[in-house]
Amino acid sequence: MKKRTDGIIIAIDGPSGAGKSTVARLLADRLGYRQIDTGAMYRAAALLIDRAEIDPDDTSALEYFCRQLDIKLEYDDARQTVIANGSDVTNQIRTPEMSLLTSRISSLKPVRNALLKAQRLMGESGGVVLEGRDIGTVVFPDAELKFYLSASPEERGRRRCEELTAKGEPVTLEQTISDVIKRDRQDSERDIAPLCQAEDAIVIDSSRLTVEQVLDKMEQVYREKINSTGMAL
Ligand code: DC
Repeated sequence: MKKRTDGIIIAIDGPSGAGKSTVARLLADRLGYRQIDTGAMYRAAALLIDRAEIDPDDTSALEYFCRQLDIKLEYDDARQTVIANGSDVTNQIRTPEMSLLTSRISSLKPVRNALLKAQRLMGESGGVVLEGRDIGTVVFPDAELKFYLSASPEERGRRRCEELTAKGEPVTLEQTISDVIKRDRQDSERDIAPLCQAEDAIVIDSSRLTVEQVLDKMEQVYREKINSTGMAL
């Protein structure tokens, strides 16, 4: 294990719409940590693969393409910018179609191998909050702190529907809940790195909690961990 020179690794996993991105960003701000949104990386990869018209069943073409992938996440206050192979894809990766496509593309081995490597390099020195589906189980099974953030599909669908409506996307609540359930199934039933709770993860159900309450809980666990292990911050 590489020495954590910048702090510990905090993993936040869970299904789509549980509030991981908001919580990861605010927790990273509170602790002076970096945030790594691994879902945004999978979305960017899916967009590029789609644009390049790579056949997902053509493993060698996909492997070759994934080796050239260069995905960068930049954060400026509350705004995340995603740069994929040199172009800004921040807005294009957030449509409902891209969500479903990403869920499919992210089940492919060449894609996961490439992003796994990139994520480990980005996070191994610590001082990071990584959010995704497989952070505590596959990317950093040795993360010092693991959370599994969940909420009911209805609540997650409601939140996602509000977000998309605010952006002017023509969506209905019924369709959004059904998309959330479909993605849950695709993400948890795939063979490689499926969405699942790490044995040592602390589970937080955010259905009836405010963002502040979730953050306070996480920060409290973080402080207890740091105090009990005598880890330097
Ligand atoms: O967190 P998100 O909704 O932006 O993620 C988009 C998709 O990417 C999601 O359907 C599953 C996939 N994903 C993954 O397979 N592994 C991760 N670590 C993060 C996301």
